Amino acid sequence: MEEKTTTSNTKPSYSLFSLSNSNNLGLGFGMFGSEEKPLPPPPPCVEVFLSEGSQKETLNADPVVINDSLTLYKGRVSTAEVFGLKNSDLVPGKYEGGLKLWEGSIDLIKILCSEVHEDRLLLRGKRVLELGCGHGLPGIFTGREGAALIHFQDFNAEVLRCLTMPNVKENLMKESRQNNLMKMNGADMSISSNIRFFAGDWSEIHKLLLSGNTEQEKAADVSSEQRDCNGYDIILMAETVYAISSLHNLYSLIKKCLHYPHGVVYMAAKKYYFGVGGGTRQFLNLVEEDGAMDACLLAEVADGSSNVREVWKLSFK
Ligand SMILES: C[S@@+](CC[C@H](N)C(=O)[O-])C[C@H]1O[C@@H](n2cnc3c(N)ncnc32)[C@H](O)[C@@H]1O
Repeated sequence: MEEKTTTSNTKPSYSLFSLSNSNNLGLGFGMFGSEEKPLPPPPPCVEVFLSEGSQKETLNADPVVINDSLTLYKGRVSTAEVFGLKNSDLVPGKYEGGLKLWEGSIDLIKILCSEVHEDRLLLRGKRVLELGCGHGLPGIFTGREGAALIHFQDFNAEVLRCLTMPNVKENLMKESRQNNLMKMNGADMSISSNIRFFAGDWSEIHKLLLSGNTEQEKAADVSSEQRDCNGYDIILMAETVYAISSLHNLYSLIKKCLHYPHGVVYMAAKKYYFGVGGGTRQFLNLVEEDGAMDACLLAEVADGSSNVREVWKLSFK
């Protein structure tokens, strides 16, 4: 990685667009939708339980080398197997790209690694939410670093069952590794109760997730103890800001679920997504207009494998 550190959902419509890429990671979107067709209603928000996950004994696992000392494993399932769709990165409102590993999630893990190693981030004991998780590797990384609670969210329950859960089992729950891991991090993590999975659209999923402090609590003089129990300490998201139509719901969700005032968001994404029009600029414009949070650029990645990618950290002002 070459790092140069330095509204609503009202009837969106999409043009027919296809920009597939041949490598494993995402350059742009191969998207199939019918011209000017309104989105179907989103699937219901549900918790998906570990017992519902793929029961395959062995994961068709590929290693993902993050750096010299960290390799994670990811499953491989196709959109054809799971959704009956051929070569599609995205079908708006139906399948939102979670079966593929996107470059941003690797950028995000690398930044989390350096934040941890340089003592700017402590993950041990923290409550973490990964939004738009797909493979869930950034959330898995926080588990390896001793996070106390990890919630994974994806639009599609099928993605959680066929991919996120097997990846969590492979990287966090395998008996031999797990014992070492728990010792290593001194974390008392009861995996099944503290790792949970939620499917559904960002407009409604807050009903199932932890909520941060309400507006009233923020305004009122509540005790710091009360404040400490609310919301997630860390929200992670990679490649979630591609569709302009969902940015408003995504930002509202973050504000509802993030611990106030100490929660932080780590966001990795492309500056601009060709064909779908979103990107970090569009999302950060929204954040700036709202005025509740500050954003700080942690890394700019221009390695030639895609258009420029960035990693940002957001926190309450
Ligand atoms: C391009 S994929 C990125 C997956 C993964 N984070 C990665 O980087 O490999 C975008 C993810 O955002 C989620 N997503 C997109 N739009 C959504 C929406 N309106 N509501 C809920 N989730 C959504 C999907 O679950 C999907 O997994």
